[in-house]
Amino acid sequence: MVPGDGIGVEVIAEAVKALTTVADAAGKSLRMTPFDWGAERYLKTGVTLPPGTIKMLQEGFDAILLGAMGDPRVPDNRHAADILLGLRFKLDLYVNYRPVRLFHEKLCPLKGARREDVDFVVFRENTEGLYVMMGGNFKKDTPDEVATEIDLNTRKGVERIVRHAFAFAAARGRKKVLMADKSNVLIHAHDLWQRVFKAVAAENPGIEATHLYVDNLTLQMIREPGQFQVIVTSNMFGDIVTDLAAGLQGGLGMAASGNIHPGRISLFEPVHGSAPRFAGKNAANPMGAILTAGLMLEHLGWGEEADRIEAAVRWAVENDRTTPDIGGGLGTREVGEAITGRLHG
Ligand code: NAD
Ligand code: IPM
Ligand code: MN
Repeated sequence: MVPGDGIGVEVIAEAVKALTTVADAAGKSLRMTPFDWGAERYLKTGVTLPPGTIKMLQEGFDAILLGAMGDPRVPDNRHAADILLGLRFKLDLYVNYRPVRLFHEKLCPLKGARREDVDFVVFRENTEGLYVMMGGNFKKDTPDEVATEIDLNTRKGVERIVRHAFAFAAARGRKKVLMADKSNVLIHAHDLWQRVFKAVAAENPGIEATHLYVDNLTLQMIREPGQFQVIVTSNMFGDIVTDLAAGLQGGLGMAASGNIHPGRISLFEPVHGSAPRFAGKNAANPMGAILTAGLMLEHLGWGEEADRIEAAVRWAVENDRTTPDIGGGLGTREVGEAITGRLHG
């Protein structure tokens, strides 16, 4: 458990209550260990991810539940890069799994959208692309300054996320996989995506493989989201389209995610950040974090408990046990308590 910064602390507290409740109800044990990695510790000690952390996690843990990283006192976000991106890279969590579901029509800003119109998953490549922090400055702080940021794409990296998207579709009875890129402009990197996607699609004749340029994808997502089932895309595009997708679900407070390496320790976090303006006010929506805890249980093989968590969140939405961001009048803790109460019942 890494609550992290800002509202991360508050939403993870509620997710932990839900986890403890479903585990107790099932007579199962879930050992949770808190870690204080985040801005506060970094500012006090200069330490982001302590030495030896990766080995300790790999040897001693099955999953990580993380709140959010980001603090206005660390303007360059150095600690978030080390902790969050560090864990993604060093644990090789190449699948960023972001399911997009609408729990109730009233949460969707689109006119006339029904629940079944918003039901797809985004697989975002999570270990390379524009996130590798390769690049540099030349003549920094002069009028002739040059800055570069490398978009790194490997065949291995592209192939494993594309394969994962098809395997997920096949396993879940989904019939369509869409790849979004910008191959009309990124003629090297996204040409690689095109070639890999076509090759993997050819191995999966039972699944319809389609393509959109990512700019058009953003339009189609708000025009007709029901056309999508499984979307696979690069790291940066996946980051952007999943905030838009969160909007379809009722906002960032509702969106859950997993950073996964199948079969290995994986990291689960809500899609939202630390929302500093909301922090400490008992105002943040804990549902994204609670649903994220459900994704974690699913990954750990606790399918029934994962389903119970999702059903309890759905019940809370249907019965207006919600925070103001989705139209309710309750605080973070009160929503958490309502969900936990439902899980007890
Ligand atoms: P943010 O997700 O923190 O907040 C954006 C807006 O979304 C908020 O102002 C709020 O209106 C809304 N929001 C987000 N979560 C909510 C919740 N649970 N309940 C209700 N409303 C919610 O994004 P930001 O403002 O761009 O970034 C703030 C900090 O968080 C930055 O330091 C950023 O780098 C960091 N960040 C971290 C993560 C992460 O750790 N996974 C993700 C995104 C941003
Ligand atoms: C996310 C976040 C992170 C990202 C930031 C905080 C590094 O926006 O998980 O979506 O860009 O991946
Ligand atoms: Mn993001």
